[in-house]
Amino acid sequence: MLKTAIVGATGYTGCELVKILSRHSQVELTSLTAVLEKPQRFNQLFPQYVHVDLICGNLNIEEVAQNCDLVFLALPHTVSLEIASQFLKLGKKVIDLSADYRLPAEIYEKWYKTKHSHPELLKKAVYGLPELYKEKIKEAELIANPGCYPTSVILALAPLFKQGMVKNNSLIIDSKTGVSGAGRKADINLHFSEVIANIKAYKVNSHQHIPEIEQELSKLANERIDIVFTPHLIPVDRGILSTIYLSLNKEISQKEIFNLYKDFYSQSPFVKILKNFLPQTKDVIFSNYCQLGMKMVKEKIIVISAIDNLVKGAAGQAVQNMNIMCGFEETEGLM
Ligand SMILES: NC(=O)c1ccc[n+]([C@@H]2O[C@H](COP(=O)([O-])OP(=O)(O)OC[C@H]3O[C@@H](n4cnc5c(N)ncnc54)[C@H](OP(=O)(O)O)[C@@H]3O)[C@@H](O)[C@H]2O)c1
Repeated sequence: MLKTAIVGATGYTGCELVKILSRHSQVELTSLTAVLEKPQRFNQLFPQYVHVDLICGNLNIEEVAQNCDLVFLALPHTVSLEIASQFLKLGKKVIDLSADYRLPAEIYEKWYKTKHSHPELLKKAVYGLPELYKEKIKEAELIANPGCYPTSVILALAPLFKQGMVKNNSLIIDSKTGVSGAGRKADINLHFSEVIANIKAYKVNSHQHIPEIEQELSKLANERIDIVFTPHLIPVDRGILSTIYLSLNKEISQKEIFNLYKDFYSQSPFVKILKNFLPQTKDVIFSNYCQLGMKMVKEKIIVISAIDNLVKGAAGQAVQNMNIMCGFEETEGLM
């Protein structure tokens, strides 16, 4: 059995990791940590995890490392920087759910407004999007697990950018997310009465996931790609729907587009291309699936993508990465 630890186990993505890993046939959960006044049984903090009879306490890196092979960091960005480095020094594999190892240092520093204290580790870090980087993930010691919006958008666009089919400057991305995307910490903008019966745009073209999306689309296209990105907050607890508009630089039929996506994702068990339906969040929440649908409209194509931000957008994808790193079935423990 692979011994795993979760640092940040009481947050939304941490709890989702506990749920998946506690039922994974190849994994033993050995440590759960958070920031607590005193250690507590996890199943007393969260009664729905009645089967997880582990004490959750404050992080002691040496102690956690003594009894684990691989550690998940479900921590706010900047907090993982140092903690990842220490676990790696102790010979542990690390899957970091934060943004700390996803971007080159200068870009990270600009968007996350903090100094990158371990730029030397960025060479080691593999961007954990299995649909694009499975071979590198197999060899990785440090996984930079992708952000939730980037997962939804990059999967929606990868086949078109890989084929060089997107007309310059035509791309417009509109994404909608549920409240859990912002984490469990208190924030006045996320109070029930602020969110309910309301839809609003926020961080218009200034969201911190922009450089990550641009980085990956640019790699696929082999040229610099700039995006226009408007995220919206909607009154649901989980789920992301991205609606993406772009023009193609060649004529192609609806059937050819469908086949292009089918071929591109033929080895990707968690990406489903829909033919007769459009993606919707209620069909993917609580699952690790990304559903994609495409519609040709005059000279434009509209691509729609749905994921659960906490599963394919975070914890499920992290477990998918672990499965690949450790030689398990890619789908083990996931649905
Ligand atoms: N939410 C999403 O949809 C989503 C999707 C993709 C990626 N992510 C990324 O995943 C990471 C975790 O997100 P989340 O939504 O799970 O956040 P969250 O709900 O705010 O949880 C954060 C966790 O980290 C712990 N923590 C906070 N500061 C700490 C510190 N200094 N030392 C040790 N532990 C500390 C918290 O413990 P206490 O609760 O005890 O304070 C909590 O367990 C973030 O980097 C986020 O950007 C989130």
